[in-house]
Amino acid sequence: MPSFRSNSEQTGWPQDVGILALEVYFPAEYVDQEELEAFDGVSKGKYTIGLGQTRMGFCSDREDINSLCLTVLSRLMDRNSVGYENIGRLEVGTETIIDKSKSVKSCLMQLFEESGNTDVEGIDTTNACYGGTSALINAINWVESSSWDGRYAVVVAGDIAVYATGAARPTGGAGAVAMLVGPHAPLIMERGLRGSHMCHVYDFYKPDLSSEYPTVDGKLSIQCYLSALDACYQTFSRKAAAKEPSSPAMSLEEVDAVVFHTPFCKLVQKSLARLSFNDFLNCPADQVSTLYPGLDAFREKKLVDTYFDRDVEKAFMTHSQELFLSKTKPSLLIATQVGNMYTPSLYGGLASFISCNTVASLAGKRVALFSYGSGLAATMFSIRVSQDVGPDSALSNLVASLQDLPQRLDSRCKVSPPDFAETMKLRQDTHHKAPYSPVGSVDRLFPGTWYLTRVDEMHRRQYECRPLVGIPAAPGSAATTVLMKEAASLTAESTQRLHV
Ligand code: HMG
Repeated sequence: MPSFRSNSEQTGWPQDVGILALEVYFPAEYVDQEELEAFDGVSKGKYTIGLGQTRMGFCSDREDINSLCLTVLSRLMDRNSVGYENIGRLEVGTETIIDKSKSVKSCLMQLFEESGNTDVEGIDTTNACYGGTSALINAINWVESSSWDGRYAVVVAGDIAVYATGAARPTGGAGAVAMLVGPHAPLIMERGLRGSHMCHVYDFYKPDLSSEYPTVDGKLSIQCYLSALDACYQTFSRKAAAKEPSSPAMSLEEVDAVVFHTPFCKLVQKSLARLSFNDFLNCPADQVSTLYPGLDAFREKKLVDTYFDRDVEKAFMTHSQELFLSKTKPSLLIATQVGNMYTPSLYGGLASFISCNTVASLAGKRVALFSYGSGLAATMFSIRVSQDVGPDSALSNLVASLQDLPQRLDSRCKVSPPDFAETMKLRQDTHHKAPYSPVGSVDRLFPGTWYLTRVDEMHRRQYECRPLVGIPAAPGSAATTVLMKEAASLTAESTQRLHV
């Protein structure tokens, strides 16, 4: 049972504002990347070693952005026993647009109906993969502002990342996260420590509103990602120095973990190496040979000239290998198995990192996070994990709630590449079709998943929820598995119904 400290205890400026609880949802079906290599006729190892991906989650025509967000929000609220009347702000970050006017947030308000609470601020935020971070910043700012009324904020980030056939297709994915935001959080957003970089580029964008697929300049997108990382790290470091002048200069040594937006895992390993290269260039000359043995030859290199410099990349990937294994690799659990979830990607990384740790090993840790959205908008910020390790603490509850991630990933259903390609074709052919009745299997969805039942002639979408018999009290326990199996056997007649 979670134990969040009551907001009524709060007087004055709210303390330790951040993430109180975190839920992740990914689809129940995946395609194996090694099998996809063979199916696509590319050389063996291209997706698995070259991109660092093992599996890719995808949705049938039964799921859309509304259903993903309904699933993850209801799961967050149920598993943490938070009443909808206690939410004062709900923000959605997504780039999966199915309506140019009606927000996903407005669709989620149906879950609030029973509570009678319609006094809920917030709306959707869009800029590629950055929308979730913008939503989180809005939520934190609301709690820290004069507008705050003492209730919680919730951030939902969700996307379906699909690409046309070709080089980008194996970098797809799908999923959603929901985060409960408030004071006395186990994951505290450090104040005054956000370094952002925003500018105008056409690296990845979605100009064709009739298609789910983006227009992508792959190489430019990687250059933009790395240049934004450099810029954000420099600004973040400068702000850290101004805030704590007596602390050592910012470097990878000053953080216990670094979590990145993950379009594919290999880029993240290269990104940690890139931060190590930044540290190297900032290192006082008299310490270079001690801290970076054998790397003196790179001292004259410039950041802007080295986005695709293989020598720099190789040298610093080797140098940062151990740092990568300890500070970043644990955050790639979901990313390698689900793929790029777009807006939830960074927070799936945070959840993965937490799920690989114990309460004791997390307490007091400092995590740096890098959020990137093409177009482009990027921010580096940091989270401090609370020191409250009591068995009923919010930190203990958060850690317990994410322990079942590996089991949930393993319980998914593998689909062959031809069937995956057929599903992509079906999504492509029926995107925005009205009226439309989806044909994808409901039985394959996880219990508790919301799914699309019909789009009527006026494009109004109707949803139902695959029943979940009770809410698992101990995530990952044998009882949970039994409940999930039990739920799977229930008939569709007993499902809840929503109309949008
Ligand atoms: P590609 O043309 O397949 O690239 O596209 P490649 O031929 O350069 O191969 C990729 C890597 O595999 C290379 O590694 C190859 O050497 C290696 P590298 O040399 O770069 O280290 N490779 C192999 N390795 C082992 N065995 C083999 C083998 N063959 C090749 N047999 C690209 C790759 C990522 C460009 C493409 O998939 C793409 O366009 N993806 C979508 C864009 C993207 O993910 N960009 C990343 C940054 S932008 C971002 O993060 C924003 C985003 O999330 C969207 C948003 O914000 O909403 C995408």
